[in-house]
Amino acid sequence: MFPKFHKLNSGHKIPSIGLGVYLTPVSIAKEISLDGLETGYRHIDSAQVYKNESEVCDAIAEWLKKDPSTNKREDIFYTTKIFDSDHGYELTKKAIEVSLERAKGIDYIDLILMHSPRSDYERRHGSWLALQEAVASGKVKNIGVSNYGIKHLKELLAYPDLKIKPAINQIEIHPWLTRTELAAFCQTEGIVVEAYSPLVRGQKFDDELLLSLAKKYSKTTAQILINWSLSKGYVTLPKTVTKSRLLPNLESDQFKLSPEDIKALDAKDEYFVTGWDPTVYPLDNEK
Ligand SMILES: NC(=O)c1ccc[n+]([C@@H]2O[C@H](COP(=O)([O-])OP(=O)(O)OC[C@H]3O[C@@H](n4cnc5c(N)ncnc54)[C@H](OP(=O)(O)O)[C@@H]3O)[C@@H](O)[C@H]2O)c1
Repeated sequence: MFPKFHKLNSGHKIPSIGLGVYLTPVSIAKEISLDGLETGYRHIDSAQVYKNESEVCDAIAEWLKKDPSTNKREDIFYTTKIFDSDHGYELTKKAIEVSLERAKGIDYIDLILMHSPRSDYERRHGSWLALQEAVASGKVKNIGVSNYGIKHLKELLAYPDLKIKPAINQIEIHPWLTRTELAAFCQTEGIVVEAYSPLVRGQKFDDELLLSLAKKYSKTTAQILINWSLSKGYVTLPKTVTKSRLLPNLESDQFKLSPEDIKALDAKDEYFVTGWDPTVYPLDNEK
């Protein structure tokens, strides 16, 4: 029903649904990642601050070893993120090495994102140069950003030594936070939008419209939300640590919401942020 992949401006492709592992405890991160891979997920979204990069990579490595004739590294898309405290050329270089060390069982990292724009021009710029070098080394296939607002993207796109445009901007986006202007800017610039917290962290499952749509389509409320995300052309990142939810979430692409129902969900927009909102973080001249 929906394309299984998006093409990135790097030429690589990314599976449209990824398994999020924020707040997935270290103790179960390997198991749920492995369950995800067995269920059919081919894309896992981690970060240095999630503290579960090693477990996710171990799961991928184990899955690859299980049946080398069918389980191929090139079919997997593994993402991690460099946190704000590691902004700046030298610190980001070191942080990339740390993530690569944790990923040594899977040879390379598919995508590294700057987790947020929360530093300053010089440090953001230095980080981007380090990320560009990581791509040149071949150990990182794609680079991008997360939680960047339009102003941060414009700043990045104007770097005099920009060699690689971000492939991705990963932002919180769902019917209660549609961010239409930011998403449109990304799409115009050829930057794929990744929707995080697509399930609104479970905070809107009792919404009447959502419940009525779940009934109408005979789907779960989670499936309606994931489907909305896909209908917008986003890569979407539902998280679960519950094995029984893995498959239904992944199968959310098996139907299509009508244009009217998508519009009705769009109308829920109330700039509802579930976590943090670095897209509004000030540029140097705004501080
Ligand atoms: N770049 C960033 O700053 C940033 C920020 C936030 C998130 N992210 C990424 O986006 C991913 C997803 O976002 P998120 O973790 O904030 O929230 P989310 O995916 O919107 O929601 C996760 C919550 O929904 C529950 N859930 C999952 N499937 C369900 C289902 N079928 N029925 C009922 N409940 C269900 C989960 O419970 P159980 O786990 O208990 O099943 C969990 O409580 C993260 O894991 C991370 O990879 C990135």
